[in-house]
Amino acid sequence: MDKSTPENEYVLIIGSSNMDLNIYSERLPSPGETVTGGIFRQSLGGKGANQAVAAARAGSEVVFIAKIGRDDFGSQMSTKLSQEGINTNFMLQDPEEHSGVAFIMIDKNGENMISVAPGANATLSVEEIEKHGSILRNATSLVVQMEIPMETINKIYEIASEGHCIKILNPAPLKPIPPDLLKNIDIIVPNEGELFRLHSLLGFSNPQTKESISRSDNIIMASKDIASLGVDYIITTLGADGSLIYYADSDKITRVPAFKVNAVDTVGAGDCFNGVFVSYLTKSFSMIEAVKAATAAASIAVTRKGAQESMPNESEIRQRIEEYNKIINL
Ligand code: RIB
Repeated sequence: MDKSTPENEYVLIIGSSNMDLNIYSERLPSPGETVTGGIFRQSLGGKGANQAVAAARAGSEVVFIAKIGRDDFGSQMSTKLSQEGINTNFMLQDPEEHSGVAFIMIDKNGENMISVAPGANATLSVEEIEKHGSILRNATSLVVQMEIPMETINKIYEIASEGHCIKILNPAPLKPIPPDLLKNIDIIVPNEGELFRLHSLLGFSNPQTKESISRSDNIIMASKDIASLGVDYIITTLGADGSLIYYADSDKITRVPAFKVNAVDTVGAGDCFNGVFVSYLTKSFSMIEAVKAATAAASIAVTRKGAQESMPNESEIRQRIEEYNKIINL
């Protein structure tokens, strides 16, 4: 196994790898209720692995660091990720913990509920990350999500800050973060709920939802507070309503509309967005072009079932961007 740092530019993704056990049914159960008649599908997932696949299919060289179990799910994960052309040489195995597993329920409108047993993902340690210091310092860009321990996430950005990479955080699923972490991050990509929860977790009082204050003004207010802790850009994803890019230097936003499609499964759509966004940014596209590509790619992913398997390839993304440009002028 060649554990040397790649010579070319690369996207580094560090995060979770899960086996997704999906049930597609008419509707989601309420607490205590059983809904039967669903269809079962097993597929590869985990926010980190999904983003790695999205970035690799979008044409980037990707190094993925994650911790898996010494089990059949774990071997399927590393085999499939290597087949995607992802550098898995830095992936780790926990001798005792199982690989991450997610139980996912999806209704007929594509809405979902997810419960994760992180297993080995939760044992990715600070010491293990420190051993991979040079792969972090030499990356062109970095994306981390929150399905691994917080102290490990903190250390990742601390080490990456010794290099020159673009440092992106996808705060999903959101958990309390030390305010100091944000000074080592350039871009955060939350969804709307995560943005406001992050805002209050950081000790800010949430903007009042008044009729006189628009949704985007509320997002700008929350973004401005969060950005004051050291972040340059905040990209808030709004599902079918597209996304808003907040620029801390000018205190301005750009709204990037979504491409309208009929969603069948939104699992992994946010991961598709993050993976394609970092890929395009690393290929030196502008912030708006990278968000547009991510939006276009996510609009394809939601029309397919499964997480990793739903990620579009480079030519599909290019074609959707062309279609997008015909309808939406940015
Ligand atoms: O973002 C979707 C992912 O969240 C799923 O693939 C599941 O594994 C959970 O990590």
